[in-house]
Amino acid sequence: MTDAIYPATRHDGSIDAAEYDRRYAAAARDPDGYWREAGRCLDWIAPYTQVKDTSFEEADFRIRWFGDGSLNLAANCLDRHLATRGDQVAIIWEGDEPGETRHVTYRELHEQVCRFANVLKAQGVAKGDRVTLYLPMIVEAAVAMLACARIGAIHSIVFGGFSPDSLANRIQDCDSKLVVTADEGCRGGKRVPLKANVDKALASCPSVARVIVVRRTGADVPMNEDRDLWWHDAVAQVSADCAPEPLNAEDPLFILYTSGSTGKPKGVLHTTGGYGVWAQTTFRDVFDWREGDVFWCTADVGWVTGHSYVVYGPLLSGATTVMFDGVPNYPDHGRFWETVDRLGVTIFYTAPTAIRALMREGDDWVTRHSRTSLRLLGTVGEPINPEAWDWYHRVVGDRRCPVVDTWWQTETGGILIAPLPHATDLKPGSATKPLPSVLPLLVDAEGKVLDGATEGNLCIADSWPGQMRTVWGDHERFFQTYFTTYPGRYFTGDGCRRDADGYYWITGRVDDVINVSGHRMGTAEVESALVAHAKVAEAAVVGMPHEVKGQGIYAYVTLNAGEEPSEPLRTELRQWVRGEIGPIASPDAIQFAPALPKTRSGKIMRRILRKIAEGDTGNLGDISTLADPGVVETLVKERVG
Ligand code: WTA
Repeated sequence: MTDAIYPATRHDGSIDAAEYDRRYAAAARDPDGYWREAGRCLDWIAPYTQVKDTSFEEADFRIRWFGDGSLNLAANCLDRHLATRGDQVAIIWEGDEPGETRHVTYRELHEQVCRFANVLKAQGVAKGDRVTLYLPMIVEAAVAMLACARIGAIHSIVFGGFSPDSLANRIQDCDSKLVVTADEGCRGGKRVPLKANVDKALASCPSVARVIVVRRTGADVPMNEDRDLWWHDAVAQVSADCAPEPLNAEDPLFILYTSGSTGKPKGVLHTTGGYGVWAQTTFRDVFDWREGDVFWCTADVGWVTGHSYVVYGPLLSGATTVMFDGVPNYPDHGRFWETVDRLGVTIFYTAPTAIRALMREGDDWVTRHSRTSLRLLGTVGEPINPEAWDWYHRVVGDRRCPVVDTWWQTETGGILIAPLPHATDLKPGSATKPLPSVLPLLVDAEGKVLDGATEGNLCIADSWPGQMRTVWGDHERFFQTYFTTYPGRYFTGDGCRRDADGYYWITGRVDDVINVSGHRMGTAEVESALVAHAKVAEAAVVGMPHEVKGQGIYAYVTLNAGEEPSEPLRTELRQWVRGEIGPIASPDAIQFAPALPKTRSGKIMRRILRKIAEGDTGNLGDISTLADPGVVETLVKERVG
């Protein structure tokens, strides 16, 4: 093997290499038989007789798993654990301030979920209705998710960092009738005006009749008497009994908006049975979950990682999961490790961007805390560079803890490519091998399948239970986006290398999506925000390498005639984008461009803009097809950063 390798250590009771090989082969040979058995990890109200019913071909395109079974995922997360682990802690909530901690047992969580489910019902929310959650990382976020699941309502979580406009778009797209929010959020000692943002957003959302507000900070927020209810008042008025609604396996569980190459963010829809099976099995296998573990995934529930590995995966498994309402550098750069020690965290899962940011602050912030409880580390969200992997493994994990680099997407519902900690030899920077039932293919631009050690575009050949089922309200867009670039295959949008050992190395997006600190941002979204500014005529946005964020946002902006480039205007445009989309979309570099490089047919040549942003200006390739090649020279000369 050419790359550094850390051999897997055996552990009794964990999946070893032979067992992984056996499962992988079994699932490839007979996916239906494999999942018929594995699907029993959930409790079904009416057991399924059908299992896999899928086709990626246009003529009979369909994705259905366990299609005639019925179940309830909230009951699977809660009720079925009550007899054996009612007094076990389900959620450890850790606030923004260290030690601001709440332990919630399975029994307590069950009661809270039943009560809030009754609140939703009392507000007229019924099966199939959409409920938007715009919340901090508080226990009530998990309660609201599970309460929706209990009655068959569809939750749509909008990350608390999104602007009122972004929130409004996501509410309108799925016609939510109810919004759950908090007075304010707290992040790194600062307040986030969640309720005020909801008030602004709802000015353009007539479908919303009711807002339920959690008291988080106690801030004095205006309540609209006809529309707004306090959470604590509402739950006090309802009964704590609520029978779980039997749902079909293919009934929707949630919508989560995510950015793509073009257009507005898409409402990724996941359904109940397949998603539940995938969330639970991947949680259990990839994190090698054992009784007594304290599992901490640092993601926010506003992203898919928070859905699958803060809430559903751990609770379906009966695990203890940490919900963290803070940030890695508050009150200081040792926050993660101080918290690990205090809560006795055994499995820790975070994003490469956080690792890189902490690595820069020096080892001392880590080594002053013991971290002896840790036994497994994980990463997700973007490629991890080998230096960061090595630091995580050596300094954070004291070389004792395997690192599982997990590749997946909002669309995939859960992890698809990752090592199993006691089965897979590790190579820093590689997500290693596919999980059972995942059939990766690397194809060239024409769709030809590439064999052996090679590099290409990553597709998946066949369905797995956790796959998204549709784009909310636009099934055609679902098919067009993922199944037409390479007909008959699911196209991930990622580039990937496979080495001689069959290990996969994700190289990053090959489409117009940028991955900023592990958050997906569509270049088109940032462009349309910029163009909406009165002084901007045209904008083109590309990704650029960024030491901490992985990728940063580089914007080329052409001003309207008569407008002058200036430093204050640059600041104003940054603020503008923050206001339009949210802080995560704020451009890292803005270059005022007198003109953009275009082909004679008027198409912006992004390839060239990417190279300039990367500083790779010695090698711009063929620019002879440009309408005005002189434009490029100016851009190169005036490159920023
Ligand atoms: C990227 C997050 C390399 C990838 C779960 C993917 C990764 C996008 C990894 C999905 C990883 C995620 N290594 N790249 N381990 N994990 N990505 O939908 O480009 O927010 O397509 O899902 O993140 O981002 P999303």
